[in-house]
Amino acid sequence: MWLTFQTKMDTVVSGIRSTGNLHLGNYFGALKNFLRMQDESHCYFFVADYHSLTTHPHPDDLHGNIRQVLAEYLACGIDPEKATVYVQSDVPEVSELYLLLNMNAYVGELERTASFKEKVRKHPDNINAGLLTYPVLMAADIIIHKAHKVPVGKDQEQHLEMTRRFARRFNTIYGVEYFPEPDAYNFGKQLLKIPGLDGSGKMGKSEGNGIFLADTPADIRKKVMRAVTDTGPEKPGTAPSEPVKNLFTIMEVLSEPSTVKYFLEKHSSCEIRYGDLKKQLAEDIIKFTDPIRTRINEILADPVYLGKVVSQGAEKARASASKTVREVREIIGYRPF
Ligand code: TRP
Repeated sequence: MWLTFQTKMDTVVSGIRSTGNLHLGNYFGALKNFLRMQDESHCYFFVADYHSLTTHPHPDDLHGNIRQVLAEYLACGIDPEKATVYVQSDVPEVSELYLLLNMNAYVGELERTASFKEKVRKHPDNINAGLLTYPVLMAADIIIHKAHKVPVGKDQEQHLEMTRRFARRFNTIYGVEYFPEPDAYNFGKQLLKIPGLDGSGKMGKSEGNGIFLADTPADIRKKVMRAVTDTGPEKPGTAPSEPVKNLFTIMEVLSEPSTVKYFLEKHSSCEIRYGDLKKQLAEDIIKFTDPIRTRINEILADPVYLGKVVSQGAEKARASASKTVREVREIIGYRPF
């Protein structure tokens, strides 16, 4: 009974490039939902380290970048007993499927991808073939586990559409119903956009407006105290301006409702002191991130544990990936001698 149920569960795949620390936006925008999904679906969460090579990380940094993302995932509560947690480059089957899919991906469609065009505009000195075929590698990551759902942000929607196209094209060329067409998983109302501290826009890795899960309390206090506000409300009942609303948004996800209510009332009656609001917000953020930061450091200090997680994840991911590649080879026409 349980087994029947288990095989009917959806398969979920998502990856994160190992190019920087995770911030509050990553946590509330995505990770929090991964935590729930790992109880409900067959989840594969991996560190996209092949993808990180498009920007040529220094060999002295590559391994540390991978470890950091892994430790942050685990520290947030991704459970390697529930989800398969692995490093992309530990699963060489991914690169074989990538090669095979490349034969049916057209240069024209790859050149038209928004993310590629943006890279060409921003970094004309490094337009490598890995960037061009980034969506093919991402498709391989996803369909190698025959995934149904891919929890990703809005910026990845076009890549997901291409993944569906590559899956469908493979099925059509070979006259099979082999790969499911995966959907970007929409968290609906729970998809929160966490704003940055610079007044407008969302929190981002490269925008310099973020609070990282690994930030120390001193870093956090400094960043929050420097956050953009305004000159204060002049008339009672005025709605907060965008920069101030952003601080309230962050407060709403991690402070007590009574705290939010208190400061909203102070704002409404023009008695608010933004310094007090920021002090409170900084302490509430610290209360939330500090246990995570402690865990990140504990995990980073335990190479035996990390090694176990990584090898167990690689084994599980390879079992699923090698089955797919074996079947794909057969569909393409490879036969034993
Ligand atoms: N392209 C994704 C990003 O930049 C990372 C990624 C690589 C990914 N492979 C994936 C996400 C497969 C989901 C599924 O965020």
